[in-house]
Amino acid sequence: MLIKDKEFELFLSSEVIRKRVMELASFIEVDYKDRNPLFLGVLNGCFIFAADLVRGISSKTEIKFVKISSYAGMKSTGKIVRTLNVENVEGRNIIIVEDIVDTGNTLIHFLDEVWGCKPESVEIATLLFKKEALQHHLNLKYIGFEIPDKFVVGYGLDYDEEGRNLSDIYQLKSKE
Ligand code: PRP
Repeated sequence: MLIKDKEFELFLSSEVIRKRVMELASFIEVDYKDRNPLFLGVLNGCFIFAADLVRGISSKTEIKFVKISSYAGMKSTGKIVRTLNVENVEGRNIIIVEDIVDTGNTLIHFLDEVWGCKPESVEIATLLFKKEALQHHLNLKYIGFEIPDKFVVGYGLDYDEEGRNLSDIYQLKSKE
């Protein structure tokens, strides 16, 4: 499949993703019974994962979103720009929701900020984790899939803002 100038191939089907997201939702539901967790989704990439994840949980939860950015084109630039404030976090059990953890730059900055708001607890739920690319110590409690350090698109993730609407996740095709 071609997006702009790049060729992509199927990596994780919507069915595989759906099953894993439902598993994560059931783990969270058990772990957070009677704790009314506050999900903090990191936009834009998390919007589909976050929507599916919270719909897999039937107990009381709340969700808010923040906007942070660290990518330009296909590279993580390490630049962090927050355009939405975290409010009403004090004393809450926070679950940060990410579509992907790559270098970890985004979360390392954001975690500092969240902890500064005096929550009761903070955990991270990420659909994808590029373990080889991680540059910080991060405790990722809920991981959908550990994936190789290759560019991925779909299910909320973009290539230059395209492809977020795809139901499956695609990987950049290796050159033979
Ligand atoms: C992506 C993703 C994470 C971050 C991960 O967001 O959603 O927030 O990059 O990379 P890192 O671990 O190297 O910091 P991006 O900045 O591309 O914005 P988007 O979600 O709007 O596409």
